[in-house]
Amino acid sequence: MNYIDHLPISAKYDEILKTDNTLQKWVNQDKKGFLRYRTPCEALQQFPASKINCNDDWVQIGNTDEVTREEQQKIEFNLRQFMPWRKGPFSVYGISVDSEWQSQRKWQRLVDVLPDMKGKIVADIGCSNGYYMFRMTPYEPELVIGFEPSVQHYYCFKALNGMARQDNLDINLMGVEHLNLFPECFDVLFCMGIIYHRSSPVECLREIYSSLRPGGTLILESQAIPGESEMALFPKKTYAKVPGTYFVPTGNCLINWLARAGFTDINLFCQHPMSSIEQRQTDWMTFESYADFIQPQDSTITVEGYPAPDRVFIKALKK
Ligand SMILES: C[S@@+](CC[C@H](N)C(=O)[O-])C[C@H]1O[C@@H](n2cnc3c(N)ncnc32)[C@H](O)[C@@H]1O
Repeated sequence: MNYIDHLPISAKYDEILKTDNTLQKWVNQDKKGFLRYRTPCEALQQFPASKINCNDDWVQIGNTDEVTREEQQKIEFNLRQFMPWRKGPFSVYGISVDSEWQSQRKWQRLVDVLPDMKGKIVADIGCSNGYYMFRMTPYEPELVIGFEPSVQHYYCFKALNGMARQDNLDINLMGVEHLNLFPECFDVLFCMGIIYHRSSPVECLREIYSSLRPGGTLILESQAIPGESEMALFPKKTYAKVPGTYFVPTGNCLINWLARAGFTDINLFCQHPMSSIEQRQTDWMTFESYADFIQPQDSTITVEGYPAPDRVFIKALKK
């Protein structure tokens, strides 16, 4: 048997990365595309914060009184290098980083069904800048691993946690396709905003299932089309202007996918229509947002003429 199987998961994680650190070598290159984000990341890491609060909607890293006015300006300049800010909000040394998504609303919807995370190994697949990972820290997990293949988001998280210094949070330039490196590793796995971007969603759920420990919990969040039928929409090119969208299921269709992948105790605990209260243009994300993705005269239809999205939340177990 592979000796890695006998190691505690945190050590196993280090071991796995040592055996396959191609991605780290790749991102450490001195090329423009990496330096663009690594440079502000390294600048922000020079400001370790004393005051951290992950309990409230605005994740707070540092207080205004911990830095001078000049330092605060430098911090804001470097934070802005990560624009567009998709997920948040964050308050960093008194600077209000108001992201496109009001991610606290998603967190509030799932907080009541969270399993015990104390001392547990957690994965957040497609973690973006780690907003939800920070929100997990009050639950005292042993380790949260963020899977995030975007260099921008990867360095944004590294910058934020360089200041927040939460030792039990880590990120790697990995995608859901790297889950096979982690057989039966996770007690809890979050997969939010990902499944409709997969061309083989059931295969993806099977890989998630394999990476969970027996007894592990999946928290799955997805776009969905409204209705009770057991169907998925397959858009011609884009859905709500988003390319790379494959199957957009109904809630019942998603439940069927989960059952076929082996999950039990499948509980759809929330479904709500998407809105431009939740996803909108801000000073930190100045491009088009949700209001531009749906028909101006009819908020139930996307610009392509498809049913406008709901969001669904499901909790499911691996027995
Ligand atoms: C729609 S966002 C969802 C972010 C966050 N999980 C949430 O629910 O707010 C999708 C995220 O997945 C990341 N992503 C892209 N390709 C991925 C892949 N192959 N595996 C995992 N994540 C991926 C994107 O960079 C982005 O951060």
